[in-house]
Amino acid sequence: MSTAAYRIVENARLDARNTFGVQATAPLLVEVADASALPDLFGKAMPDDCPALVLGGGSNLLFAGDPAGVVLALTAQRIGIRDDDGARAIVRADAGVGWHDLVLWTLGHGLCGLENLALIPGTVGAAPIQNIGAYGVEVCDRIHAVEAFDRPAGAFVRFAAADCAFAYRESLFKRDPGRYIVTAVEFALSRTPALKLDYAGIGEELQAMGIDGMPRAPQVAEAVIRIRRRKLPDPALLGNAGSFFKNPMVAAAVAAGLQAAHPGMPVFRAGDADTRKLSAAWLIDQCGWKGHRDGDAGVAESHALVLVNHGHATGAQLLDLARRIAASVRERFGVAIEPEPRIIGARW
Ligand code: EPU
Repeated sequence: MSTAAYRIVENARLDARNTFGVQATAPLLVEVADASALPDLFGKAMPDDCPALVLGGGSNLLFAGDPAGVVLALTAQRIGIRDDDGARAIVRADAGVGWHDLVLWTLGHGLCGLENLALIPGTVGAAPIQNIGAYGVEVCDRIHAVEAFDRPAGAFVRFAAADCAFAYRESLFKRDPGRYIVTAVEFALSRTPALKLDYAGIGEELQAMGIDGMPRAPQVAEAVIRIRRRKLPDPALLGNAGSFFKNPMVAAAVAAGLQAAHPGMPVFRAGDADTRKLSAAWLIDQCGWKGHRDGDAGVAESHALVLVNHGHATGAQLLDLARRIAASVRERFGVAIEPEPRIIGARW
């Protein structure tokens, strides 16, 4: 069935719709070209209790099994400037816009703020859900508002950034999966650069690019792109979902004890004075997993936090490897690490 606003495909293969490249099938895939069709779609075409999974770029999930219910893909691609007072502009982008395309669009329009988030895979609609972040910036620092369809209420809602319960790789939308379908995001961006250059590696990369003095925002984006290309495998060439684990948060006293027992262990300040963030990559690396391979399920050579599919790994095999990695970190350091991507068809 299809209308101008949406198209329904039965038994849709999802291999090319997830960056791990694992096999999965959606009993029903709905491509929604116009988000204003959502009330109609849920009100009439689909039962109220039918689970719905919204698929963006498929870059932050692992299909350990087939999804139950319906899979939605929002495909609208508009980007526009809402307000512009010459110093600050509000940019609104539809959920279906590719994230990196948005970053390039804003830089091309002389707007600063998203440069550190260059080259993150996925879509605009997915960005607020796990509050994507890299190189010292989280997207919640730049979000002005999020527009969504509230499924139980059958109505469109608009959240100011302060009402989205953003935290490290967390949000209102992630805490209540299945409730909100993000349809568009507004960003508050600046025409006067306020660059964030303190994350390890950015300054060195700018220097290697021959940039002395204050860089321009597109040059910062270029530095980030160069670092990411070197450290993180390209999902188009080697299936992966970026960082597979979140960096664990522990009490400051626990971090101090661990650091005393393991000199050289990186520890970062996080939020309040009593909390520290540990490096999951370091913990996993110390357990000897970097470059490990079980058949086609493996850990990247270039970054211990990235699980990779060397060809025909199944989601279940990747999940099994992830569980063994987490168990070894718990055994050696007493620290629990949690997956960052959403796991479909199995429980962590
Ligand atoms: N490290 C290792 N071994 C490795 C890689 C890193 O020991 O194989 C250690 C190093 O000591 C390094 C530290 O881990 O100093 C941190 O590494 P990195 O700068 O790569 O950052 P990360 O904490 O591993 C986070 C995000 C990335 C983001 C980078 C850069 C999470 C879960 N991941 O990684 O985001 O690109 O910082 O800001 O917070 C993603 O979420 O998918 C993602 C790629």
